[in-house]
Amino acid sequence: MTPGAAETATADRRFLIGACGSVGILNLHEYLLALRSRTSGEVRVLLTESAARFVRPSVLQLFCDQVICSGSEPGIGSSHVELAEWATEFAVLPASANTLGQVANGLSPNLLTCTILAFSKPVRFFPNMNLDMWQKPAVQRNIAALRADGHIVEEPVQQHAYKAGARNFSQSAVLPAPAMVAKLLADGTGLRPACVPDPERTPP
Ligand SMILES: Cc1cc2nc3c(=O)[nH]c(=O)nc-3n(C[C@H](O)[C@H](O)[C@H](O)COP(=O)(O)O)c2cc1C
Repeated sequence: MTPGAAETATADRRFLIGACGSVGILNLHEYLLALRSRTSGEVRVLLTESAARFVRPSVLQLFCDQVICSGSEPGIGSSHVELAEWATEFAVLPASANTLGQVANGLSPNLLTCTILAFSKPVRFFPNMNLDMWQKPAVQRNIAALRADGHIVEEPVQQHAYKAGARNFSQSAVLPAPAMVAKLLADGTGLRPACVPDPERTPP
């Protein structure tokens, strides 16, 4: 593939994608492909233990340069300091209510949250959860705290989406489309407008 202008501009950037145990992770490979089409920069994925129960790391490995699992033995693989120093861009995609709450409160019980604390720049979060969770005052307090701390929390898209735990559909706050997310990551641009239905993403 011949690098385009946008790709060349991001070739020297190193993307660390943290991924949490949200049903949104089932589509993570689409986001990695979209990012890959926009940049030739290196992409590593850091899974929480919960995330690694949703997807096989060996499958995700087909779509990025390296997959790191939060539950690895200490001393084996990457440390939070090494990862934080390696990355030039850090996004959490999808971000669970749990991880958002931990980071908002300065907690670091796993490799992902430790690496976020060790990273010297703002982290970009892409929340994904059902609408009831998203609208909870506690979750919104955590979002406000993260933004006040200088992090970027992208507004999710409101959509009628599959609720895996209940095996039915409900209103959810989901990730923006892969092309939009890849553009935000590759361009390093700012916040999306408030939670609105995305006409490009209709339920099956
Ligand atoms: C089937 C299923 C789907 C889930 N989907 C979500 C979700 O979309 N968003 C969310 O915040 N939590 C979701 N959860 C709950 C998280 O997996 C749980 O809070 C977990 O502790 C998150 O861990 P992590 O933040 O370390 O990845 C889901 C749980 C299950 C069993």
